[in-house]
Amino acid sequence: MRVTGEKLVGVVLVKPERGKQKLEREVSGLKRLAVVALSLLVVWGLTGTALAASSPLRGELEIFSWWAGDEGPALQALIDKYKTAFPNVEVINATVTGGAGINAKAVLKTRMLGGDPPGSFQVHAGQELIGTWVVAKRMEDLTSLYNQEGWFKVFPKDLIDLLSTKDGIWSVPVNIHRSNVLWYVPENMKKWGVGVPQNWDEFLQIAPKLQKQGVTPLALGENWTVTHLWESVALAVLGPEKWQALWEGNLSFTNPDVIKVWELFGKILQYTNRDAASLTWQQATDMVVKGEAAFNIMGDWAAGYMTTTLHLTAGKDFGWAPSPGTKGIFMMLADSFGLPVGAPNRQAVIEWLKLVGSRSGQDTFNPLKGSISPRLDSDLSKYNTYSRSAAQDWQTNRIVGSLAHGVVANERFMNDFATVMEIFLSSRNPQAAAQAAQAVAIQAGIGR
Ligand code: GAL
Repeated sequence: MRVTGEKLVGVVLVKPERGKQKLEREVSGLKRLAVVALSLLVVWGLTGTALAASSPLRGELEIFSWWAGDEGPALQALIDKYKTAFPNVEVINATVTGGAGINAKAVLKTRMLGGDPPGSFQVHAGQELIGTWVVAKRMEDLTSLYNQEGWFKVFPKDLIDLLSTKDGIWSVPVNIHRSNVLWYVPENMKKWGVGVPQNWDEFLQIAPKLQKQGVTPLALGENWTVTHLWESVALAVLGPEKWQALWEGNLSFTNPDVIKVWELFGKILQYTNRDAASLTWQQATDMVVKGEAAFNIMGDWAAGYMTTTLHLTAGKDFGWAPSPGTKGIFMMLADSFGLPVGAPNRQAVIEWLKLVGSRSGQDTFNPLKGSISPRLDSDLSKYNTYSRSAAQDWQTNRIVGSLAHGVVANERFMNDFATVMEIFLSSRNPQAAAQAAQAVAIQAGIGR
């Protein structure tokens, strides 16, 4: 029994005593472990947070645009800035050559519809954005980013309206370009004994004088630049109210005033170069710079090309004026970037958009591009004399939207209008062009 008792003692008393000690040892061991684990967790957590804060994003970010070659330096400067902030992100600068996006837009359409969107892509504020990608529900609403970045305070309301529908804000503007600009070389004007035309009558008077000296009065390039010229001529003939009315469906394309646009346009085309269809916009600009042509009407990316690529000085090597008959009117367009639904590496795209909309991003990009920053706090000391004059006009002029660069009409109209232009170029018949334009306007939901 004793033994048993001992045993019992052993069992009942001693063994439990040993078990308790073991239990206590185990418990305190566990406690220590817990403390260590907790400390480790705290340290890991803190370090993790610190790491996350400084932790650069990774992966690829594809930026899609038509800013290739001569058009590339401004975008490259912006991308370089991004790379400095996020060195572990590999930025793919995907460009498709062709002024005004003539080729890029078609490639983009295939990719977007095929479910292969780039991280972000260049798109014009206005109908090109809204009528193409927003109605198709392919863009993410950026309202919260606008709030977070304070953009409601720094971007003009009218511009935000161009990027918005009642359901959201769909892209971030990087610039403001002016479409209705006449470019020339001041020294050549003196040499040829002509002034800068204030209106189209004056142009038509001096054009024969230039031709007699072997100079092309007005340099023109490939097809889209013809539409670009048309919008400046239309603005001169119609004025801002009727131009606006045309796109709101309140003025028919067959109205006598609009027919006058085609009549004048036909006269002007007589004074352009015959090889226009084979020239890029840069080559048309080159004709002016080289003294082969007197004038060119082009958006102010031409100023970017002449200063950044050709290293010319604004105001000395080249001059500018509103296109004839459009003094006091600023025909605007804005390039912007958005967030496509299903964009790869979404966080990297959001950081890109923040840079695109930032003061320092815009004041890096725009002085090279020939455009101005839409931000009200832009640092104008970084811009040349041309851009400063554009910034002043942007503040004081009557603002209207460009047709050739996606502001006032949707892509459907744009594509069909290219056909209308072809019809006019071969027939030179204002009535026929007016009828055709009215038909495509109705099809595109513009006319009545
Ligand atoms: C416009 C665009 C400009 C410039 C130009 C010539 O549509 O907004 O930034 O690229 O085309 O390609």
